[in-house]
Amino acid sequence: MAEIAPSVLSADFKFLEKQLKEIENAGVKRIHIDVMDGVFVPNISLGFPVIKSIRSCTDMEFDVHLMIENPERFILDAAAAGADIITVHQETCRHLPRVLSQIKEAGCKAGVALNPATSVETLKYIVHNIDQVLLMTVNPGFGGQAFIADMIQKIKDCKKLLQDMDCDSLIELDGGITVENAAECIRNGADILVAGSSVFCGDIQYNIRQFQTVLR
Ligand code: DX5
Ligand code: ZN
Repeated sequence: MAEIAPSVLSADFKFLEKQLKEIENAGVKRIHIDVMDGVFVPNISLGFPVIKSIRSCTDMEFDVHLMIENPERFILDAAAAGADIITVHQETCRHLPRVLSQIKEAGCKAGVALNPATSVETLKYIVHNIDQVLLMTVNPGFGGQAFIADMIQKIKDCKKLLQDMDCDSLIELDGGITVENAAECIRNGADILVAGSSVFCGDIQYNIRQFQTVLR
């Protein structure tokens, strides 16, 4: 069954602990945490001290999305802060297999993210080293953007590539996910749906329940 991963970027940071508990109590198993550097993406979010500090608030899996240049510099920090899954961008790694090994050696699951214009073919020769593929369904950097419709074809292409390579990596989507487009995303192969504004704007538990009716 597909899962939802609320994205902390859209949380109200002054109520972060309370909002994490609300999410967990609604039955969510993973949260998505964006780390941005203002270079790879035109925005800055939060860093490892914040992740470390919220680690004790919840048992949910921490799905840490590193939107930073040369992420190999920060894999150990991400793991030490409490990441369970560390996702790096294909576009930021000159030696991607080495970075994936670093993530595994740090005791975490490894993900690779692709910007909308980066082809899934770029993963063909390394898919067996990846626990999840994160397809950006908006241009990365900000919450609240509209889903790019052309990404539906990319989800299908990614699913086909993984099947052809006999690989059981999960497909995670990130950006512009709503209760309205979730079913189509799942039908085309998505396993994990990251959702920021559509979870945190309004009543969090109500929003999660709405998603859960689609995920079933
Ligand atoms: C955007 C981030 C997302 C963001 C998604 O670049 O990677 O995780 O929080 O936000 P929504 O769901 O509002 O598009
Ligand atoms: Zn993200």
